[in-house]
Amino acid sequence: MEERKKIFSGIQPTNTPTLGNYLGALQNWVKLQEDYDCTYSIVDLHSITVRQDPQRLKKQIYESYTLLLAMGVDPERSTAFVQSHNCHHAELSWVLSCFTQFGELSRMTQFKDKSAKHPENINAGLFTYPVLMAADILLYQADLVPVGIDQKQHLELSRDIAIRFNNIYGDVFVVPDAYIPKTTAKVASLQDPTKKMSKSDENPNASISVLDDRDTIIRKFKRAVTDSDTEIRYAPGKDGINNLMSIYSAVTGKTYEDIEKEFKGKGYGEFKLAVGEATADILAPVQSEYARLSADKKYIEECMKNGAEKAFKTSRKTLQKVYKKLGYIVL
Ligand code: TYM
Repeated sequence: MEERKKIFSGIQPTNTPTLGNYLGALQNWVKLQEDYDCTYSIVDLHSITVRQDPQRLKKQIYESYTLLLAMGVDPERSTAFVQSHNCHHAELSWVLSCFTQFGELSRMTQFKDKSAKHPENINAGLFTYPVLMAADILLYQADLVPVGIDQKQHLELSRDIAIRFNNIYGDVFVVPDAYIPKTTAKVASLQDPTKKMSKSDENPNASISVLDDRDTIIRKFKRAVTDSDTEIRYAPGKDGINNLMSIYSAVTGKTYEDIEKEFKGKGYGEFKLAVGEATADILAPVQSEYARLSADKKYIEECMKNGAEKAFKTSRKTLQKVYKKLGYIVL
């Protein structure tokens, strides 16, 4: 049988995933299992670039992992693991940091944004974060990496690092491509549609958590910031409505044309209610599966353990190859 192409992706457990995470990445993680050999990680090592409360972080790691399974990531067919359970990530990250230039990391827009947001804690981890991300991807020889548009620059850096290393040592790493969805690559904040919807937004009305209940989802959509126009139409400058249309399209499968027809002559209020209801409908099965799975901590920990073992075995091959190439003694 022909070997299937490989996928790697990760999500930080800093907060409950948002609808942006779901439509931009997680939904694709589930779909891609059909045709690819997939490895998915809760990247807890990444999350300490910003100070975390240990009790809360632990809870979030359990929650994020359980949510992956609830959304349909199959722990038998794919590899689903917690990053800190596999020491190879930190090891390869060190190696790759010696093949990454200071100037390259200084150009990362997320570093610039986050250091502006947390001026009191511009730590070295925040700066080298994209190297750890490159290590995550390259350890599993991933061909494709399903992410939202905000990760595109990091992915390009991963490619550059892989190419640079291969140029010196021969074909060690597969050079990965980003897999970015067309309409939901950047789901916007409901309160400021020029910004992305983010797990760390302080305004709870700005984002939909995948665990928000139906009433909360509908209320947040009703309050979504839009323009003063009345027509439901996808057009430049109508960021708020464009965002709601792309969400509605993603959760119902309808095209923009269908949506414009459906809401012709109707107001924003009616449209917002429909987006809220349709979103609540697609999240409902995830939420009930989450409730079922989270009651069985033993099963979740078993899945974490098996996932970590599978991940470790795969990544060891790559790390040993790298060490041999560097001249280290691999016994
Ligand atoms: P994170 O945890 O911020 O987000 C997880 C995934 O969700 C996507 N995403 C969005 N997509 C559309 N609209 C939005 N508003 C939105 N917000 C987030 C992100 O693009 C991402 O795909 N650095 C990564 C985690 C990571 C990783 C990796 C990803 C670590 N190692 C290796 C891929 C491969 C991050 O912070 O994602």
